[in-house]
Amino acid sequence: MSKFLKFTASIVLLGAAWATNASAQDADAGEKVFRKCAACHAVGDGAKNKVGPELNEIFGRVAGSHEDFKYSNAMVKAGEEGLVWDHDSLTQYLAKPRDFVKGTRMAFAGLKKDDEIANVIAYLATFSANAEQAAAEPAPAAAEGGETKPTETAEAPATNAADAVIPEHGVYHLGREALPEEVAAWDIDVRPDGVGLPVGSGTVADGGVLYDENCAVCHGVFGEGEGRWPVLAGGYDTLTADRPVKTIGSYWPFASTIFDYVHRAMPFGNARSLDADQTYAITAYLLYLNDIVTDEDFELSNETFSEVSLPNEENFYPDDRLEEANFATNVEPCMENCGDGPAEIVMRARILDVTPDGDDESGAGGID
Ligand code: HEC
Ligand code: HEC
Repeated sequence: MSKFLKFTASIVLLGAAWATNASAQDADAGEKVFRKCAACHAVGDGAKNKVGPELNEIFGRVAGSHEDFKYSNAMVKAGEEGLVWDHDSLTQYLAKPRDFVKGTRMAFAGLKKDDEIANVIAYLATFSANAEQAAAEPAPAAAEGGETKPTETAEAPATNAADAVIPEHGVYHLGREALPEEVAAWDIDVRPDGVGLPVGSGTVADGGVLYDENCAVCHGVFGEGEGRWPVLAGGYDTLTADRPVKTIGSYWPFASTIFDYVHRAMPFGNARSLDADQTYAITAYLLYLNDIVTDEDFELSNETFSEVSLPNEENFYPDDRLEEANFATNVEPCMENCGDGPAEIVMRARILDVTPDGDDESGAGGID
């Protein structure tokens, strides 16, 4: 090749590299923006509906028309009235979802920056054969073809149960991975050492107001308990009496249990309705009703929590009776490979006859 030809060739290559980089950059940036959507939406190979519909082939999709997704009435109506997702409508929707489709169930405030919107749309376009932007790069779903069916479009015939997408994971293909939000919603336990306490604070005085509104009907204005509802205060020095009065103050070992319990289970019938600050305030007030704190201005928070200890704490200790196997020698209990050699089945329960059968006079149901 002559010097001249080589030179032109490299210019052409350079040009090409430039062009693809420019469009790829938007989509790359868009992939990052899409993390804000990813809690609710999947896109790409094998994408499934999550909290929101999967977004493959979104360009040209009639709004609210994914066969297997249950939309809000508002989104379905918008589609019936002619809303089709394209560059324009996506731009408006993603800026202010709830303004653009009033009553949409997409609980997302919108993207504030124009370039975020443009980039995430460029990213979605790479999974849409219908998007002009996608013309340069083939959509992965279409390119791979084969087993992964491209997403149904609005016109696709209704799928029946036999065509339903079966998840690929696990033995029985049931369920799905929990979302981080779902895990966080479950993970609310608070330990005696304060691990798990949410950030927040509340004073005795604030707690008094909240307590009167939410708790006094059952537990009494001073924690004395209305009728037969539990007593929440008092009972000191009764634990060794014939009829001990066990309250959170006289009996419970740790303030973290009060916080955890109230946060998780009270008010009875409306559990989990108190936020962290309210729970701190009410817990502070319960400590006050029990004379464990005496200052109405005391503020309980994730930072002051460790200052509080309950009077009965020291009477709770690990069971150190010698006959308790785990504590006899105070060694770590064995948790794996504790026997010699591999486990062997030496007898079957039904031969050993430990399970009562159905006809025995105890009336217990048996397993045969
Ligand atoms: C908190 C969950 C959530 C987040 C975050 C979220 N969405 Fe949604 N999205 C939904 C739900 C739910 C719907 C269905 C709305 C309805 O039925 O009204 C939806 C609908 C859509 C639709 C219409 C789809 C159709 O089939 O008509 C598009 C497009 C969309 N979302 C894009 C996005 C993008 C892009 C982002 C990120 C910038 C995002 N969403 C963030 C939950 C979410
Ligand atoms: C509708 C009646 C009702 C209301 C209102 C109510 N509770 Fe309770 N509370 C109960 C009942 C019933 C129990 C016992 C539940 C059980 O043992 O399963 C209980 C138990 C408790 C306990 C544990 C007591 C113990 O010694 O075992 C605490 C602490 C508590 N409630 C705090 C509160 C707080 C704080 C509020 C207000 C935010 C509240 N409760 C509102 C009915 C109520």
